Amino acid sequence: MIIMQENLSISVNGNCIRCGRCVKVCPSGIFEMAGYGVDKSVKIVDLQKCIACGHCSAACPVGAVDHTLFPTEKIHRIDYSNMPSSEQVMLLCKARRTNRAFSKEPVAKEHVDMILEAAHRAPTASNMQNVEFVVVSSPEKLREIQKFVIEVFGSLVKKLENPLLKPLLKRIVGPVYRYVPIFEKMKADYANGNDRILRGATCVIFIHTPKSSRFGDADANLAYENGSLMAESLGISQLYTGFVCTAIKQRKGVLEKMLGLSPDREIKAGMGLGMPEFRYPNYIDKKELQFTEVR
Ligand SMILES: Cc1cc2nc3c(=O)[nH]c(=O)nc-3n(C[C@H](O)[C@H](O)[C@H](O)COP(=O)(O)O)c2cc1C
Repeated sequence: MIIMQENLSISVNGNCIRCGRCVKVCPSGIFEMAGYGVDKSVKIVDLQKCIACGHCSAACPVGAVDHTLFPTEKIHRIDYSNMPSSEQVMLLCKARRTNRAFSKEPVAKEHVDMILEAAHRAPTASNMQNVEFVVVSSPEKLREIQKFVIEVFGSLVKKLENPLLKPLLKRIVGPVYRYVPIFEKMKADYANGNDRILRGATCVIFIHTPKSSRFGDADANLAYENGSLMAESLGISQLYTGFVCTAIKQRKGVLEKMLGLSPDREIKAGMGLGMPEFRYPNYIDKKELQFTEVR
């Protein structure tokens, strides 16, 4: 993203100690070290290439970067002594599971806000920062979402079972037939008020990006994972709403419209949230880690 901001201004003030950090970290090469010895100074070139990532302001140890997008109130000192330890981060990664045993207790609004903020802090391609969220917690809307999924899968199964199409479809999309009985069960459960789609999540955060975004999927799913780790740390359970996302892909634009999104936005990920009926006492080992090293 190149920001076309009329009043954008970046300059280096008298606090500069010529350490060259801004030169090293700027992804757009806007900062250049000019001159030698005592005459060394940082100059700004190609201002309009700024992608507003704020690395210059974040890396500067002496507050020497005057950037119109990052005034002092937007720059915060990091207290590294407050960082979770690597053991704590690893424990969080191990403890985070898809817990489908949600209680009926609602998720506190301030906790949803923290999950949103963590998700919003995820990196985005070219620092586009155009990932947005829609939070759904009304039981009626959550039921409507399930109904949407049931309808989409219903018409899909109808197509798959069409006697004229079936022989051809079996050849083209054979493995999809594995899901037919799963859907039939989901539909029967839905009719009985048993939610196999959102699993009783009391809140869903949908993550959407512009349709035109080349990295929309990656951006949204990175946001998802930040949010899911925050949820785990808060003792809140989360579930990736894969069935809903599949239905969204089948019926483009429909759920987005139902949720009041503008037509140029596309839902790329969804996180069902709820208070767990219980927390897991154990974490389990995954498959053996596979990696190769290329030297
Ligand atoms: C893209 C994606 C889609 C998923 N869709 C669903 C879903 O629709 N319903 C569900 O119960 N779990 C869903 N899951 C959760 C996975 O089943 C789960 O992550 C996997 O079994 C591993 O378990 P864990 O998350 O507890 O480590 C999905 C996960 C991912 C990454």
